[in-house]
Amino acid sequence: MGAPRGEFSSRLGFILAASGSAVGLGNIWGFPTQAASNGGAAFLLVYLLLAFLIAYPALMAELIIGRHAKANAVTALRSISNDRFTYNLGSFTGYLGIATASVILGFYAIVAGWMFAYAMVPVSDLLGMGGFADWLTGFAVGRNLIFMTLFMFVTIAIICGGVQKGIEKWCTRLMPSLLFILVALIVYVLTLDGAGEGLKAYLVPDFSRIADPQLVISAMGQAFFSLSLGVGGMLIYASYVSDKEDIVSLGRSVTLLDIGIAVMAGLLILPAMYVAQNNGVAIYDAAGNLISEDTLIFAVLPALFETMGTAGIFVALAFFVLMSIAALTSSISMLEVPVAYAVENHGLERKRATYLAGGVIIVLSGVIILNFEALFGLAIAASTRYGQPLLGLLLCVFAGWIWHRDGVLNELKKGNPDAEQGPFWKIWPFYVRTIVPAAIIIVFVQSLR
Ligand code: PHE
Repeated sequence: MGAPRGEFSSRLGFILAASGSAVGLGNIWGFPTQAASNGGAAFLLVYLLLAFLIAYPALMAELIIGRHAKANAVTALRSISNDRFTYNLGSFTGYLGIATASVILGFYAIVAGWMFAYAMVPVSDLLGMGGFADWLTGFAVGRNLIFMTLFMFVTIAIICGGVQKGIEKWCTRLMPSLLFILVALIVYVLTLDGAGEGLKAYLVPDFSRIADPQLVISAMGQAFFSLSLGVGGMLIYASYVSDKEDIVSLGRSVTLLDIGIAVMAGLLILPAMYVAQNNGVAIYDAAGNLISEDTLIFAVLPALFETMGTAGIFVALAFFVLMSIAALTSSISMLEVPVAYAVENHGLERKRATYLAGGVIIVLSGVIILNFEALFGLAIAASTRYGQPLLGLLLCVFAGWIWHRDGVLNELKKGNPDAEQGPFWKIWPFYVRTIVPAAIIIVFVQSLR
């Protein structure tokens, strides 16, 4: 076996690392744009319900199993299995998690690379290097490959440092900066003409949309992706938490931070879109829908920044630095999944394991870039629409059906001796056994239609 296991030095260290994993492009980009195109506050409402009632209990399953086993998902699930079949199911779930985390990182690193590139545009504009700025924003294979690799190397450098000197150290620096930049941008954008219109679009619900199956499917996918569910990243982070900590309250803090930051990002993006419209930038596409996804981030917002004069240069810089930080604290949790497995189960030294796993993912990402049309959407769908819900379901089956109830309770009691009397223990076991798996199956089947 490899070196002794790492451990977060404090409660806050874990909370910042795990919320760093959760808060990512999914929150600051995915959530607001989905809300914009799915009835504003109607989406927000459904999202909040699903996040608290379905995604949070599933996250707790992952955290409790991880802290108990003090190991990566493959070993952890094997250790709570009780016969040959569940042992093999545990291995399968763990390996599927590693594959899914790697595919997610494969496409995530490409998008994060664009954020790095766009963050350099205002700087090159300031230095009068217009030609370079054009190259940075042009969609070319060379630029995509270079910035994806750059982003991966930063991710690799942090993961090489291990739990305390890598993950914890950087998340405690980056997460407060993220929060600061986000709040500063919200305050600034809300002072601009047109922002009120955006707030309305975000906060006044269009209730006619609320029962729309498409809305529910999107909200559920968004909640799962946002809480980094199923792939084993949260499981491995929880495995670095000391037994003294109350894991239920840690999970609650991470969920609240994740949802809170998504909701706040809505207060930035939607008003910014309407400020853009106010400044003459088109925010509706030809079909009359609000522009979302890549066009929003890489066309509408940059066009908005350009209408702001000198202030726009700094706003653009702040915005893309915010996106880069959010992406980085998430990508490290993805890379930690294969790395922890290689170190713990194959005795590889951490640096070696990190370069190996990082190298494989760079190649995977490169293949996606070279076959962008065919593979980019496919990688996203396979990992987030199919992989994550299936893995979430399997983890609930392990926590609710396979692992002995006393084992779960003993684990909860480690950090909270009165856990048996608390509301969590009264509701959650029933929830992970029945409601959560049923909800995942229903939404999954719906999404196939
Ligand atoms: N939660 C991250 C986000 O919202 C994405 C992520 C998915 C991170 C899976 C880790 C694992 O962007």
